Amino acid sequence: MPHARHPESTIVHIGAGQDPAYGAVSAPIYQTVTYQHPGSGLGPFDYTRTVNPTRSGLARGLADLEAAAGASLFSSGMAAITALCHLLDKESHVVLTEDVYGGTYRLLVDVFQRFGLSFSFVDTRHPDRVVKAFRPNTRLLFVETPSNPLLQITDLVAMREIAHQHDAWLAVDNTFMTPLRQRPLDLGADFSIYSATKYLAGHNDVLAGAIVASSSELAARVDELANATGGVLAPFDAWLVMRGIKTLAARLDRQEKTARQLATFLAQRRDVVRVYYPGLEASGGRDAHARQASGPGAMLSFQLQSAGHVPRLMDALQVILPAVSLGGVESLITHPFTETHREFPEHERYRLGIVPGLLRLSVGLEHPGDLQDDLAQALDRLGR
Ligand SMILES: Cc1ncc(COP(=O)(O)O)c(C=O)c1O
Repeated sequence: MPHARHPESTIVHIGAGQDPAYGAVSAPIYQTVTYQHPGSGLGPFDYTRTVNPTRSGLARGLADLEAAAGASLFSSGMAAITALCHLLDKESHVVLTEDVYGGTYRLLVDVFQRFGLSFSFVDTRHPDRVVKAFRPNTRLLFVETPSNPLLQITDLVAMREIAHQHDAWLAVDNTFMTPLRQRPLDLGADFSIYSATKYLAGHNDVLAGAIVASSSELAARVDELANATGGVLAPFDAWLVMRGIKTLAARLDRQEKTARQLATFLAQRRDVVRVYYPGLEASGGRDAHARQASGPGAMLSFQLQSAGHVPRLMDALQVILPAVSLGGVESLITHPFTETHREFPEHERYRLGIVPGLLRLSVGLEHPGDLQDDLAQALDRLGR
């Protein structure tokens, strides 16, 4: 019996065979809003908000990567998380990882709270705390693992058990890992969520989001919501993600290797108080991560001795760009305290460890030696 294809092969062929007219190897961009009907009847395509062949090709590819029932694509990661929340009935309660992406926190606190959703942010590394946070109306457990920016690890099998015992869905924001490193649906999650803006597209040039669903019933509900609320991915943007995702395996292998090197280098520096990276020997949750993921990824955070060092380091860097976002070919450094996580109340940021001296590094595709030299020269200046 021929063995199943490896995901590296599936990913390269996403969108293939989509051009019956000319056999183009690169999938066509169906840049149309509407479709001519065959005479008076309705055809399989009607209106691009509902369905578009370029977007569908990418959705099928993403679903295949997780052996999922279906995937829906949105105009951004936040539009995908919005659609997930729209699945919930009013008065539902949501339990979330406490150091989720700041935008997810803002969406719940500033928007969905006004529509009757309530939520609890919990340290999901501790299943007993998750159980305690559940209420009779809890319908969704939303987890990031590794989390953003502290790379904390949550045991997904334990989360699935808790969620399903309480008749709630488990959704995993898998942006940092991608389906090539972690497949949440295999571990029993109901949804994998992606900011496809990041590793999937990979080039810091397009905003996109995805929900990958475990059952066809859930996939159909998400598709209906996408059509009803309208935050769908445009055909050209779907094509950009399709083009970017083909090199994901090669990018991630290289970025992860460099991240390991940089994390080890930073951990040996006296001017660095702490390094957060699931690939480091001493990292908390390393074993749990190894059970559920096939690699540590290419995101790391580190804490400098003093907050005053942060602007000096950022100013001194010459290869690594100070910018938000992550997962692209360019290495980017971010200050979570004032950027990605500024939505959290200040005392919460301190309690979580998102302190003013913390920096998050998204390791790109530059030569590893250049990146290490850049960090070294910038850190050396702090002592002067
Ligand atoms: C983990 C995570 N989830 C979701 C998002 C939101 O995605 P987008 O910026 O595509 O809306 C981000 C953005 O940084 C993120 O880091």
